[in-house]
Amino acid sequence: MTKRIKRIGVMTSGGDSPGMNAAIRAVARASSYYRVECLGFMRGFQGMIENDYIELNARSVRNIINLGGTILKSARSKEFLTEEGRAKAAANLKKANIDAMILIGGDGTFRGGKVFSEEHNIHVIGVPGTIDNDIFGTHYTIGYDTALNTVIDAVDKIRDTASSHNRLFFVEVMGRDAGFIALNSGIGAGAEEILIPEEDLGLDRLLNSLERSRRSGKTSSIVIVSEGDKIGKNVFELAAYVKDNLPYYDAKVTVLGHIQRGGSPTCFDRVLASRLCVKAVELALDGQQDIMVGMMNNEIKSIELVNALKSKPTINKELLRISDILSV
Ligand code: F6P
Repeated sequence: MTKRIKRIGVMTSGGDSPGMNAAIRAVARASSYYRVECLGFMRGFQGMIENDYIELNARSVRNIINLGGTILKSARSKEFLTEEGRAKAAANLKKANIDAMILIGGDGTFRGGKVFSEEHNIHVIGVPGTIDNDIFGTHYTIGYDTALNTVIDAVDKIRDTASSHNRLFFVEVMGRDAGFIALNSGIGAGAEEILIPEEDLGLDRLLNSLERSRRSGKTSSIVIVSEGDKIGKNVFELAAYVKDNLPYYDAKVTVLGHIQRGGSPTCFDRVLASRLCVKAVELALDGQQDIMVGMMNNEIKSIELVNALKSKPTINKELLRISDILSV
């Protein structure tokens, strides 16, 4: 028979993402609903190492569902990468009588959680929270939808000024190694070209496309560049290269940066966070360990952490085709 779970811990780690607070709220409320105690560890793994936590209950998470960022703060803990750091964290969790830890974050968080659980036999359950949407085993990660909408909003504004001045804008978006933000926001914002790490289209194709646009009568254009793009030039070098080769273009650069990580979460992200975290608590109570919850085809499922970490989700190539057709 599995041991009765009495106390659950939760933390947010890695790059923050809008909807993490909705996730914390759901963990605290579901814990309260099932009558288990809930502790929130501050600054991800670092708070576990420093034994820095707060008690969470149904009332202490009031009025946070709409807030960006994370009330538990986030960090990328270097100390947790060491065996000593993880041993300290494990000792603290055992002292605090934590039966299961819910880790809200991205692949770095899950990798840390998996090693931790293997070394110290502590139950961990991952909840995918990252704007990059680059986690295998879920079609959506918490924060991705909000980030997309932030990008669309910014690019719509850039389009106004690009059009007034007949300019070409290169807009760099986040996504360390993944082009999900670039590809989907590029289509949503009506970009001329979308450069993503998964598909190196090459510089010649970019020049040809921009040349073709000019000949077809376009007076301004937007190119969305994923920060992880593999074309071999950063966004500033790209703009300079285009200016050198197509001198009639007045090319400008906007790097959206961390603006994409903030802001009030969209309804989609709030609902996703709520569904994933209720399930995470239920699976923890069921004694499950080393799994990640995800949403596949609108159903909440779980997958072994080891499998979630084995692969990367693939981009939908159909979207590249759509973008090509629509930027004619
Ligand atoms: O993983 C989320 C992310 O926002 C990536 O898109 C980006 O490359 C990275 O985090 C930036 O990390 P930091 O905030 O530590 O610079």
